[in-house]
Amino acid sequence: MTNIKWGILAPGNIAGKFAKDLELVADGEIAAVGSRSIERAEAFCKDYPNAKAYGSYEAFAEDPDVDVVYIASPHTYHYQHTLLCLKAGKHVLVEKPFAMDKAEAEEMINLAKEKELFLMEAFWTRFLPVTERILKDIAAGKLGALKYIQADFGFNAAFNPNSRLYDMNLGGGALLDVGVYPIFLANLLLGKPNELKAMTTKSPTGSDTATSILMNWESGASAMLSCSVNTDTPTEALICGSSSLIRIHSRWHESKSFEFRRHFSEAPEHIAFDDPGKGYKHEIIEVHNCLKSGLTESNKWSLKHTLDQVEILDEIREIIELQYPKPLS
Ligand SMILES: NC(=O)c1ccc[n+]([C@@H]2O[C@H](COP(=O)([O-])OP(=O)(O)OC[C@H]3O[C@@H](n4cnc5c(N)ncnc54)[C@H](OP(=O)(O)O)[C@@H]3O)[C@@H](O)[C@H]2O)c1
Repeated sequence: MTNIKWGILAPGNIAGKFAKDLELVADGEIAAVGSRSIERAEAFCKDYPNAKAYGSYEAFAEDPDVDVVYIASPHTYHYQHTLLCLKAGKHVLVEKPFAMDKAEAEEMINLAKEKELFLMEAFWTRFLPVTERILKDIAAGKLGALKYIQADFGFNAAFNPNSRLYDMNLGGGALLDVGVYPIFLANLLLGKPNELKAMTTKSPTGSDTATSILMNWESGASAMLSCSVNTDTPTEALICGSSSLIRIHSRWHESKSFEFRRHFSEAPEHIAFDDPGKGYKHEIIEVHNCLKSGLTESNKWSLKHTLDQVEILDEIREIIELQYPKPLS
């Protein structure tokens, strides 16, 4: 099969990192870049001379050479940009958080199904070698029954009402930017919780600055999760079972190593992976594998996983009274 041709919609910070890791994947290339400004699209294309630059997302979406679009716009635009690309007949990989709420997510999923196109949330942590190995170890019974998950993700971003992290029009706040990672871990390993509690602090724009979440499952498992954008936190994860535990090193969501212990009093076994790149190549390879197999969703991070994730986020937002305006189109 010829190379899979990617289109990059919204060439910002993460799009640049994604494009660098795409260079590590043998059978993929960037065919087009779509920005709100032709200058920004052209600047991004300097490193990718075969890519066409577009100064509007609408014109970009119609490029006949693009197989699959990577959507890297701010959260509040994921819905409209996904619909735009699906309507133009493109497969879509859309950044996290998938959508702003369940209603948006369902519409996106329904359209992909109707059009028989591939759609996936870009939850790259799911595809990292560390995650694959941990899932294998858990399935093999190395931890016993899962009892407790502790995970955090926090970094210190100075308050700026116009930045993506604080502007409510762009989906600002800790929960949707980094809280999605600890929630992802709990959702991946234990599914939707039976009981959930949450508390937050807010910035002057109304965005959440530090959010804490407690979860319980019927199995007796529990989780303590947190996220923040106003202070650095360890950004580690602990997965504790009835017989042993795993600690994923900081920053756990992108870690290339973890440790396994029977007990905290015993020396850990260190497991590390030699894995060039930032880690995005693994989700890219998953998209390629799905497209080549004619799949319209990934089994590893399915649309059901995503929908559960969105429902958990909606529930937390209701508890902490976190509401966002719809973006202007
Ligand atoms: N997977 C990861 O590791 C990871 C890491 C960081 C961020 N993300 C996700 O990626 C998305 C983008 O984050 P980012 O940090 O890359 O943001 P960013 O640097 O601000 O880039 C976002 C891009 O979106 C476009 N855009 C469209 N409408 C916009 C608007 N109204 N205001 C501002 N920009 C607008 C802009 O490109 P043009 O104007 O040129 O089109 C901008 O460069 C977020 O949803 C975030 O959650 C994922």
